[in-house]
Amino acid sequence: MSHILTENKDGVLHIEIDRPDKKNALTAAMYQAMADAICAAEADAKVRVLLIHGKTDLFTAGNDLQDFLDNPPRDDKRPVFQFLYGISQAQKPIVAAVAGVAVGIGTTMLLHCEKVYAARNARLQLPFVNLGLVPEAGSSLLLPALLGYQRAAELLLLGEPFSADKAKEIGLVTEVVPEGELLATAMAQAKKLADKPAASLRLTKRLMKQGQTAAVMQQIKLESSHFGERLNSPEAKEAFSAFLEKRKPDFSRFD
Ligand code: COA
Repeated sequence: MSHILTENKDGVLHIEIDRPDKKNALTAAMYQAMADAICAAEADAKVRVLLIHGKTDLFTAGNDLQDFLDNPPRDDKRPVFQFLYGISQAQKPIVAAVAGVAVGIGTTMLLHCEKVYAARNARLQLPFVNLGLVPEAGSSLLLPALLGYQRAAELLLLGEPFSADKAKEIGLVTEVVPEGELLATAMAQAKKLADKPAASLRLTKRLMKQGQTAAVMQQIKLESSHFGERLNSPEAKEAFSAFLEKRKPDFSRFD
């Protein structure tokens, strides 16, 4: 049971995150399933566009913290990095529909999507520092480029939640829509893309990203090496234990 559902509807491959009892937190198995789905979609002419979504009240709470403790991703062959390489290098357009919590990778993966629709109830967050970790998915490069250094620093260093409207204002979200219209809007936009000449779409995407592809890949690798080290840090262990024990972390004893 990977909790990732896939279905091709009219040329749009839906990749649905479906683990509501754990707020759609992503395990290694789920990352692998999403990485495999992206890889298969790239080779399947019947898939023209990918659409990543959760429910109308939930996108994802990010990495499963218990799974991180049990199976720390020590090198970049691990499923989380396979997913990041897949989504950042995909040639086909990717649309995301975001509702409710979109934490950590739930926010950073949006940097690799062409169109991002957010419900009014979306609550995004980049809590890496609060967890004793570092940013991933190339976000330490892409966010400053998108927002400017100070606004990126606010999101990455403070790690506080922000609204769909703020995400739209800073350029991370294409459009904010009512919850009930989220999936229909994202599907309609994905279908519009699916009806266009696929080769032109792929080439246009490649041309737009050409200047940054190598740098993004390099940054993902660099982040992943720091991320792997930080996962073993006492601060991360304290943050993860505090979350699982439902208490506030105490970082005062660490330098
Ligand atoms: N990893 C593992 N389990 C998670 C999780 C995560 N990232 N996020 C939520 N869960 C689990 C909770 O432990 C809880 O499980 P339980 O019912 O067995 O106790 C369940 O999902 C519901 O979560 P809860 O915290 O009660 O929901 P909430 O609506 O009060 O808060 C969040 C939702 C997303 C704000 C909160 O769960 C949270 O902060 N999660 C951690 C997010 C995070 O740090 N992600 C990693 C980024 S690198």
